[in-house]
Amino acid sequence: MYKKKDLSIDFLGIHLDSPFVLSAAPPTDELEIAYNGLKAGWAGVILKTTSVEGNPVELKYPMMSSFGPMHKKVVGLGNIDLISAYHIDEVERRVKALKKAFPNKMIAASIMGATKEQWQTLVWRLKKAGADLIECSFSCPQGSMGEEPGKMLAQSVEATEKVTRWVKEAAGDTPVLIKITPQVTDIVEVAKAVKRGGADGITASNTVPSLLGIDIKTFEPYPNVFGKGAYSGLSGPAIKPLTLRTIAEIAKNVDIVISGNGGAFNWRDAVEFMAVGASNVQFCTLPMHYGFRTIRDLKDGLAHYLMDMGFNSPMDIVGKALPNIEPQEELPAPITKAEINEDKCIGCGLCYAACSDGGHLAIEWDSNKRRPHVNEDKCVGCAMCMQVCPVDAIRMKEKIDGQLHYFVEER
Ligand SMILES: Cc1cc2nc3c(=O)[nH]c(=O)nc-3n(C[C@H](O)[C@H](O)[C@H](O)COP(=O)(O)O)c2cc1C
Ligand code: SF4
Ligand code: SF4
Repeated sequence: MYKKKDLSIDFLGIHLDSPFVLSAAPPTDELEIAYNGLKAGWAGVILKTTSVEGNPVELKYPMMSSFGPMHKKVVGLGNIDLISAYHIDEVERRVKALKKAFPNKMIAASIMGATKEQWQTLVWRLKKAGADLIECSFSCPQGSMGEEPGKMLAQSVEATEKVTRWVKEAAGDTPVLIKITPQVTDIVEVAKAVKRGGADGITASNTVPSLLGIDIKTFEPYPNVFGKGAYSGLSGPAIKPLTLRTIAEIAKNVDIVISGNGGAFNWRDAVEFMAVGASNVQFCTLPMHYGFRTIRDLKDGLAHYLMDMGFNSPMDIVGKALPNIEPQEELPAPITKAEINEDKCIGCGLCYAACSDGGHLAIEWDSNKRRPHVNEDKCVGCAMCMQVCPVDAIRMKEKIDGQLHYFVEER
C-alpha cells in the first residue's frame, strides 16, 4: 500500500517541502506566473535575474528555437533571452508579495550587477525585501556585465572569487548560491573560487552556449531574428549529461552544497542529479514545455522511488553514486560480450548495421530467419548494439573473477 512520503528537505537552512524548485527563467518572471507555480506545488521559486534600475536590458524576439531528432520535438531548447526586463524595484515588490502569500515556500531572487556597488546594493535590497536566498548569475550565455564584459563571469576564476566575496559580504547570513557555467576548462577551479569567496552553495549549472541550427536554403540561423541570429543558451534534456558531469566533478572535489540544474525532465533525472551530489533540483524547460502540473509527477515519482528503495528522505540519495565514478584507468577489466534475447528481437537489423560498420563485425545476419547472431570470438563488448536496439533485446554479460554479471541500461 502506497503511503505518502515526506519529501521535505533542509536546503541551506531553508525548509523545502520537496527538493524541486523553479529556476530563474520565464516561469518566474511574472508575479502571476510565479504565484501559479507555487500554488501548483513547487517548493520554491528563484525569480528571474534582475539588476539595478537603469541597467539596459534590450530583448530581441523571437528568442526561442529548439532541436530534436524528430521534427519539432524539444530535446534541446535554445534561447537568446537576457536577464529580466523588470528591475530590482519591481522584484523587491514581488518578493514581498510572494513571501506574504506563501510564507512556507522558498522565495529567492537572482541578481546580476556590473560593479561592486551594484552587486551589493542588489543584495541589500533583496535581503530587506525578505528574500530567503540570493542566487547570482555568473553564467548568462549572452555575457556578464562589468567585470568580464562579453564573457560569462564564471569563466574567470579570479572574477568569480572576487564578486562572490562582494556578494557574501553584503548577504551576511542570507544564503548565497553562485550559478556557474559548464563551459570552462576546469570546473573544479571555479567551484573552489566560489568556496574561497564564501558562498553557501553552487548552482550547477546554467544553459550551455550553442548554435541551434541554420536554415539551409536561406543560411539564416535559428532563432531567426529577421534574417540574423545569435548564439543561444541550450537547456532541456540535451544538456543533462553535461550537468551530471558538472555536478559530479564539483561534488567529488569541493565540499560545498550544490543545487542541480540543467536538463532535468522527470523525477528520474532529479534522482540522478542528487545521486551525484545535488541537494535539490531546479527546473525550467520542463515546466515551460509541459506546465506547472509536472510537479505532481515529480513528487509522486520521487515518493514511490524512496519507498521502493527503503530511503527515509530525499537527502538519503545525495552523493550515493559518487564512489562509483572513477577515472577510466581505474575501472575493472571484465570480459564482456553482447547477448541477444531472440524472443524479444523483432529482426530490424539495426544491431547488425551498427556492429558491421561501427563496431567489430561481430554480428552475423541470418537472412532466412531475419535474425542477428553474436559471434563471441569477435565481440569485444563495446555495447554499441545495445544502444541501437529499439526493443531492448540486447544486454551485456560481464565476467570477472569467474563471476557472471548481466548489465542493461535502465532509463
Ligand atoms: C528563456 C530562458 C530564459 C532564462 N533566463 C535566465 C535568467 O534570467 N537567469 C538565469 O540565471 N537563468 C536563466 N535561464 C536558465 C534557466 O534558469 C536554467 O538554468 C536552464 O534553462 C537550464 O535548466 P533546464 O534544462 O531545466 O531548463 C533561462 C532559461 C530560459 C530557457
Ligand atoms: S558489443 Fe560491440 S562488438 Fe559486440 S556485438 Fe555488440 S556492437 Fe558488436
Ligand atoms: S537491434 Fe534488436 S530488434 Fe533489431 S535485430 Fe538487433 S536484436 Fe533484433
